Amino acid sequence: MVIPAPGRMVPHDGEFRLSDATRLHAPESVARLVRELLTPATGLSLSDAAAPGDGVISLRLDHDPELGEEGYRLRVTSTEVVATAAAKGGLRWAVQTLRQLLPDQVYGDGPARGIDWRLPCVEIADVPAYAWRGALLDVARWCHPLRFLYRYVDLLALHKLNTLHLHLTDDQGWRFEVRRYPRLTEVGSIRRESPLGHARDERGDGVPHGGFYTQGELRDLVDYAALRGVRIMPEVDLPGHTQAAIAAYPELGNDPARQLAVGTTWGISTHVLNVADATLDVVRHVLDEVVEVFPFEYVHIGGDEVPSREWAASPHARRRAAELGLDRVADLQGWWTAQLTEHLARHGRRTAAWDEILDRRPAAGTTVFAWRGEDRILAAQHAGHEVVAAPYTHTYFDWAEHDGPDEPLAIAGTLPLERVYGFAPGHVLGVQGQVWSEYLPTTDRVEWRAFPRLAALAEVGWSGPGGDFPGFRARLTAHLGRLDHLRVNYRPLD
Ligand code: ACM
Repeated sequence: MVIPAPGRMVPHDGEFRLSDATRLHAPESVARLVRELLTPATGLSLSDAAAPGDGVISLRLDHDPELGEEGYRLRVTSTEVVATAAAKGGLRWAVQTLRQLLPDQVYGDGPARGIDWRLPCVEIADVPAYAWRGALLDVARWCHPLRFLYRYVDLLALHKLNTLHLHLTDDQGWRFEVRRYPRLTEVGSIRRESPLGHARDERGDGVPHGGFYTQGELRDLVDYAALRGVRIMPEVDLPGHTQAAIAAYPELGNDPARQLAVGTTWGISTHVLNVADATLDVVRHVLDEVVEVFPFEYVHIGGDEVPSREWAASPHARRRAAELGLDRVADLQGWWTAQLTEHLARHGRRTAAWDEILDRRPAAGTTVFAWRGEDRILAAQHAGHEVVAAPYTHTYFDWAEHDGPDEPLAIAGTLPLERVYGFAPGHVLGVQGQVWSEYLPTTDRVEWRAFPRLAALAEVGWSGPGGDFPGFRARLTAHLGRLDHLRVNYRPLD
């Protein structure tokens, strides 16, 4: 009952029993991962073996072009366990599969007594369908605790999801420490209050909310995730969704005489960054610190929902647009994207952005996150871009799964599990599930919305689309036993 389903899995009779005599032969970082994942519950020390052989779990690199960066083969016999992959990435996923083959108690955080730790004999050959299998977590609207980010990384890795997209900044909060501009967090990470009920109710809770992550904390998280095969892509949303930054530094806004507050309502703020050279410099400096903390090749610069009303009203912005030969001030967004793409390229990084940037002819190498609908996937492809498929119709897990009376308040709905599982992304770089957190103030709520739909999307991303839903649902029922041991607050199946 491995989820996501392996490409090829042939069960055999018999089993491999783990005991105090079982030893481990693997590259150092992979051996560390095996011990971190298996030792707490099993209590087995899995000491090093000099070579594969009887009683040894061996994971080794082996040139095999069919496996790519993330594929692996796994063979369990009654005498040994052998995993091979062309890269460490594949070995890491083999470890996750091995863990799923063990009794569910392996997911408990303390020693589980009286369990017979055995693996069923099996042969697996497994290669992901898509290279990008991501999950966005919005920590801007609610600053979820650092320890939850670690847990989320663990949950992604368990589902062979390889990318955590951290939405670090928005109108209602700036969560990334920037050494050069301390007010971004001193001021921008704290809001006076949050909406009570749905945004349309226009009520506030009167309770301040704040928090941010230091660069050191994020570096440690990056390392922890890397050991598990999870890359972290930071998002600094620009030039819209920046009210928190403008509250910290009013000179970044279009009316520097006006002191804005960090956003206290959900929705799209009309306040956006101005188009002065000095503002562009600030943003470049911010990105300089972002790339120091996050080694992943991709940096997401947002680009979604940028109202141009303030630019239209600003003589400076209008002059800028005219100097640049732009027909409309709204096209200044394209100029923003181009400047930042160029800057990130100087750092050797690729720019990722939401699909609104397509409206302003972005640089060819920009990776488009198509969210406004499936047609946006095709539009981005036709324009020659690499695409991550993230349409709200199938991947916005902040939407309620159903509209029943017991569902916690959601931004919208519904997005049932079956629709997620039925998603056919097409020929794209990959897929990504979004957990925007306006209505998810607690990590319990985040887990309720994310699971099990993220498991369904993980299977689309790894095993490919077109899976049989009743079969998936049956396997998922068993899979939830694992999440039970991890005490994940998932939404039970209907
Ligand atoms: C988005 O949902 N604004 C990307």
